[in-house]
Amino acid sequence: MHKEAMRTPLHLFPGPVLGIETSCDDTAAAIVSDGRVLSSVVSSQMEHRPFQGVVPELASRAHVRLLGPVVAEALEKAGVTWSDIRAVASTHAPGLLGSLLVGLTYAKAAAASRGLPFIGVNHLEAHLLSVLIEHPEIKPPLIALLASGGHSEIVESREWHAYTILGSTRDDAAGEAFDKVAILLGLGFPGGPEIDRAAKNGSANAFAFPRAWLEPESLDFSFSGLKTAVRNTVRNQGGVASLDHPVRNDIAASFQEAVVDVLASKTLRAAERSGVSTVLLAGGVAANSSLRSRLESGCREHGWTFAVPPLRYCGDNGAMVAFAGALRLARGERSPWTLPAIPTLLESRFGT
Ligand code: KG4
Ligand code: ZN
Repeated sequence: MHKEAMRTPLHLFPGPVLGIETSCDDTAAAIVSDGRVLSSVVSSQMEHRPFQGVVPELASRAHVRLLGPVVAEALEKAGVTWSDIRAVASTHAPGLLGSLLVGLTYAKAAAASRGLPFIGVNHLEAHLLSVLIEHPEIKPPLIALLASGGHSEIVESREWHAYTILGSTRDDAAGEAFDKVAILLGLGFPGGPEIDRAAKNGSANAFAFPRAWLEPESLDFSFSGLKTAVRNTVRNQGGVASLDHPVRNDIAASFQEAVVDVLASKTLRAAERSGVSTVLLAGGVAANSSLRSRLESGCREHGWTFAVPPLRYCGDNGAMVAFAGALRLARGERSPWTLPAIPTLLESRFGT
């Protein structure tokens, strides 16, 4: 038995599980065995860069082209063959329909042809549970901030696999706001890492950007007003072409500060209100250095536990899917071959 498996109190499906993730623009596969990640391969599609956003049809086509080789590489890096695999897990919701279908259909076919158990995984649950890969000691009750390119949710979990959404975005997701503001600043796509980098050389107090706190009790988010404020600021500076580096860095830092301020404050408020002392951060935006340190210090002040995945498991990856699948399979859950791909979070009944 592996060292990690011995220290985990989690009940995981035994043996190698193949996890497949194709919900957006990352084609990913991983092998997780007894809680240990044997391999994790992510092919981030480059065809979207000229469009500064994900083009759904291009994403589906790229998944079709990339998935076979990505799975083969995951098997090779893990040092296993198909005959070692004990189960197959795949994201089935939420995400781009055509993209989800590629991974889901591949996973079903692979499992069916080899007589293996198959489990469909919710992408947001996979992000949340990815924290446990390196922190198996974490237990509910907890509050999690799930922030990605498609979602910004504050979630409460009082027992594993049961979640209540306490707050959501009313317009742009946090990652989407980063991506759009990066375009306004003439930075590359995806914008989150670019803004994170630029912000390190700028002043977070240079521009007083608005924070949408919404109604006094609300744990919802709104980032569209902030985006407009950045657009107006860039225009007042003479447009993106005339932004010099220091000003661009200051705008990036001030924008990031406004997003992090609201995300972190509302997450800490949710924990306080729910009376829980464990806070998790996951999803692509969990890679943000300022958000990580703000939540970490906020939790430290309260004496709470804070946990976040390492950077390699923040963005979309197959390890989180295999891991979440292994937890659900260990409970005896299996998905039917008729399991559909579901684009929206609401219809996919997150966590139920
Ligand atoms: O979870 P993810 O890989 O894909 C979705 O499920 O959407 O999240 C991608 C998002 C993108 O919007 C990207 O800009 C953002 O995560 N992101 C970041 C950082 N790294 C990635 N946002 C802020 N700071 C970062 N360092
Ligand atoms: Zn994601």
